[in-house]
Amino acid sequence: MQQASTVAEIRQSVKQWRAQGHSIAFVPTMGNLHDGHLKLVEVAKTRAERVIVSIFVNPTQFGPNEDYSAYPRTEAEDCRKLQGVGADLVFLPEVSEVYGNNPKTNIHVKDLTALHCGTSRPVHFDGVATVVCKLFNIVQPDKAVFGLKDYQQCAVVRKMVEDLNLPVKIIPVATVREASGLAMSSRNGYLSPEQLKTAPVLYQALLGAKSAVLAQTATFSAIEQSALQQLQSAGFVPDYFSICNADTLLPAHPGESAFVILAAAKLGKTRLIDNIAFNSIEQ
Ligand code: PAF
Repeated sequence: MQQASTVAEIRQSVKQWRAQGHSIAFVPTMGNLHDGHLKLVEVAKTRAERVIVSIFVNPTQFGPNEDYSAYPRTEAEDCRKLQGVGADLVFLPEVSEVYGNNPKTNIHVKDLTALHCGTSRPVHFDGVATVVCKLFNIVQPDKAVFGLKDYQQCAVVRKMVEDLNLPVKIIPVATVREASGLAMSSRNGYLSPEQLKTAPVLYQALLGAKSAVLAQTATFSAIEQSALQQLQSAGFVPDYFSICNADTLLPAHPGESAFVILAAAKLGKTRLIDNIAFNSIEQ
């Protein structure tokens, strides 16, 4: 597996592979890789001849009181894992390599970023859209693979790609879960053993709400309230729990066909997010 830390190095490798007629799939990550990330790489390998993974803890997507400094950095172990699943190149840039000198450009995807996580993390999605656009321009992949655990992030990236005519096909991949149902996340590493026992309640609340939506036994608002109470009783401080239209992420209405239930809640200091997407004809 090759390693690159500069734009010039990565462009050189990409140029050689393009000359050999190889297509390129890209997996952007912030490192501290778990099986969810490795699944993205495995999917990428089925979609292109070459797979590039970036490991970059992006400062612009963290708010002032968030965990940028504490975010786990485990590059040596990450590289071993990537080698094990057959990635072709890992891109490990410094902040200055990605952001250059005093940048003045920011990408803002309207409306979608004002909802859900955007309410409590106002700078987050601008940081994500800007760094993903920059990484796409640096790597110039044919395809890019994103985990659906970050459902809103996938929606924001797709809209940015559409609006800016970026020639990159976005490939979404289903969330990988622990046996307990807990969605895999680098932030699960912040949880104490006791909190790890409670954390699966977030997914249980999503499953319960999905069943209630399909059974049509209560209003959407009542289903959301009951899930919020379930989370509070388990010890979470919920941020939101919202039954949404799967495409617009706006509040869903009975009679619609494609739903996603989006949820975020804090357990101690750790903010967990999860979601469940489904169709109304599903049983
Ligand atoms: O999902 C992530 O890990 C990050 O938001 C991403 C897409 C790598 C951008 O920094």
